[in-house]
Amino acid sequence: MNTIVTVDLDRPGATINKHLYGHFAEHLGRCIYDGFWVGEDSPVPNIGGIRLDVVEALRALNIPNLRWPGGCFADRYHWTNGIGPRAERPGLINTQWGGVAEDNSFGTPEFMALCELLGADAYISGNIGSGTVQEMADWVEYLTGAGKSPMADLRRSHGREQPWTVAFWGLGNETWGCGGNMRAGAYADLARQFGTFCQSGSDTPLHRVAAGADGADTAWTKTLMEVIPEIGAHPFSSVPWESVSVHYYTIGGSWHAKGSATEFDEASYWSTIVAAQGIEGLLRSHADVMDVYDPEKKYGMVLDEWGTWWEVEPGTHPGFLFQQNTIRDAMVAAWHFDVFHGFADRLTMANIAQTVNVLQAMLLTDPDGGAMVRTPTYHVFEMNKGHQDATVLPTTIAGPTHSVDGREIPVASASASTKDGQVLVSLTNVDLDTPLRIDLAFRGGTVADATGRLLTADRPDAHNRPGAADVVSPVVFDDFEVTPTGLSVTLPPHSFATLTFRTDTA
Ligand code: AHR
Repeated sequence: MNTIVTVDLDRPGATINKHLYGHFAEHLGRCIYDGFWVGEDSPVPNIGGIRLDVVEALRALNIPNLRWPGGCFADRYHWTNGIGPRAERPGLINTQWGGVAEDNSFGTPEFMALCELLGADAYISGNIGSGTVQEMADWVEYLTGAGKSPMADLRRSHGREQPWTVAFWGLGNETWGCGGNMRAGAYADLARQFGTFCQSGSDTPLHRVAAGADGADTAWTKTLMEVIPEIGAHPFSSVPWESVSVHYYTIGGSWHAKGSATEFDEASYWSTIVAAQGIEGLLRSHADVMDVYDPEKKYGMVLDEWGTWWEVEPGTHPGFLFQQNTIRDAMVAAWHFDVFHGFADRLTMANIAQTVNVLQAMLLTDPDGGAMVRTPTYHVFEMNKGHQDATVLPTTIAGPTHSVDGREIPVASASASTKDGQVLVSLTNVDLDTPLRIDLAFRGGTVADATGRLLTADRPDAHNRPGAADVVSPVVFDDFEVTPTGLSVTLPPHSFATLTFRTDTA
């Protein structure tokens, strides 16, 4: 049975916010220290202590934003310990992740320098769980204060005259759990209070993100959304956030037995695909709640943590969440992006967890030799980057299924967008063994000059590592023929492809 993919060129949809391709860097394991930050005296090439190879690799993704300092760490982080001369900064024990000592050498100025090097917007998660309203307000003022004020002057005394631009501000993280074990109503009250005092000191307003639900807990989202009519009806008040977040991890096994990133059987592969496909229902359930209170879609849904979560690599610190990354992870990422594009009118940001050396990373750095490798997931982000800020094109798909525990699940996924006279189509075949014959048809216009790229490998557990850094990397894809309505494409098993066309239509 051929798979039929149809792209409507004449029915442009919403803009795919570039921030759907966002990132996340926490003080967790070797993400910050060793991942982004090596210090100025390191033999690893760096600019002011920040790894050059990591910066270059992420710039090639057009990385739109970076979330920091957590995660669970955020509600334990006191920003004043990470400013000023590094030699004078107090140390800290990272009680959340491994109980290890940190010297605070990577703090606010280093994070903002990193964002500037990356050309990425800063997304800072403030501390609601163990911080005060004043502490958070001071942090905002230190960063963004343009005029003369105590915190802006403190920044100036540290050598930074101009304020930084901070695009996004998180009001705590997972406040139902590690961020304070709060009930929804208690958190909503705190978020109202903290958000009210988070005001940018310069012309660029802060986009505040209220910490959202644990997975499918739509009651949490409802509690936050109920604030909109309540405060919105008041003549002198405004809702103290612009978006509501949610987190969703793909766990192929169970929470207590997540399974290996690289050694897996067919059953584990398929249970992972089922879990990844769960993202669609999850986003739908929260979007439905948001639609009730915000039918005009003025408020954004932000998936500020997503990705695969496996057991740590053997021999690594259990609290560091270091995992390898295979073709299977690439399938998960590719599927997520197709779903994200379908929610482009509501989903305004997504941040994969995490960028370097933690969970579903883009980049892995070697603790010994310092070598860096790009993961299969990195390549999905790179191949898909043309979707950033493009206009979504409605795409329908009808194709084969695979039976998992008596349930038929789809094996093919697709999405399409247009920008600057080009159409970009993404195609994924998660089937383990069977190639997919795809009839790709365009309606409402014409396309020409197809070029393709393909990401796959002989085995679904293929991955990159130091010394074998390009086992999985994109190649030219030309296994397609032009048909009267589009293309006839053959997609290998467990593969991801992008096709680019010129169009005069869309
Ligand atoms: O990404 C790892 C952790 O997962 C984050 O710190 C937390 O927010 C989530 O539970």
